[in-house]
Amino acid sequence: MNTMDSATGLDERAATTAHTTGLAHRNSSSHAIAGMAEANVLAPAQLERRRLIHRDESVRRQSDAFREVRTRLLGLADGQNFVALMVAVSPGSGSSFVARNLAAAFAFDETKTSLLIDCNLRYPGQHKALGVDPASGGLIDFLDAPDRGIEPMIYQTGVPRMRLIPTGKARENGAEYFSSAPMRTALDELRNRYPDRYIFLDGPAVEGSPDARILSDLADFVVVVAGYGRDTPKAISQATAGFDPGKLAGVVFNHAP
Ligand SMILES: Nc1ncnc2c1ncn2[C@@H]1O[C@H](COP(=O)(O)OP(=O)(O)OP(=O)(O)O)[C@@H](O)[C@H]1O
Ligand SMILES: [Mg+2]
Repeated sequence: MNTMDSATGLDERAATTAHTTGLAHRNSSSHAIAGMAEANVLAPAQLERRRLIHRDESVRRQSDAFREVRTRLLGLADGQNFVALMVAVSPGSGSSFVARNLAAAFAFDETKTSLLIDCNLRYPGQHKALGVDPASGGLIDFLDAPDRGIEPMIYQTGVPRMRLIPTGKARENGAEYFSSAPMRTALDELRNRYPDRYIFLDGPAVEGSPDARILSDLADFVVVVAGYGRDTPKAISQATAGFDPGKLAGVVFNHAP
């Protein structure tokens, strides 16, 4: 067990049990990242308003913490891109904050792209946090009519190489969507199309929704986000116990304000 200490709000521990079974071999045909069109790239002050890390010294400790988690996941993935599910132990502990910033940390590496998918159907928030207008719909709109394809639901975020699929229509229960064949096929295609694309699913908290567990079936890794001083050790171990130990990449301790 490795613990990273940080005064800036993020501690990270990697579970020793994590391994990489379930990562299918994918070939690494190149794709032109440099060719990705980027409109409205955000300045550091704008990133800060969206509670996103940036390259300035002022947020160095926090961005280092996210880079550390990035390094840990890359180590577990052993050269393959992956789908990582981020879930909080209890609502509000910060899975959306951590998922957003981890996706940004991956995109900061110019050889990688990241795709954040908001899978919190009841309380979707990533589009608001990132200032994205989901004009052509989101994940649920795609799953309701998969023939339209998922491309129109992929939005720029203002962070180069980072994209967002918002939830689209709100729904009470994700089970029928997340266990559907179109969801699985779409995720496989999104991951396999570009070997340098890393996918982050932002799920609802483990407490109060079965969706987190259902979503974990779609992920290579699960990262559990615990609210520092907020989620008890018992709640954290109950939350982690619900997942396949082979997928559990670790627990991130987040100091929500
Ligand atoms: N370490 C942090 N530093 C600054 N702000 C944070 C931090 N963690 C969380 N926040 C803020 O706290 C609020 C709650 O966090 P967030 O939405 O990430 O929680 P969540 O676990 O996704 O909640 P939900 O159960 O609604 O999905 C948000 O406004 C978020 O921006
Ligand atoms: Mg959330």
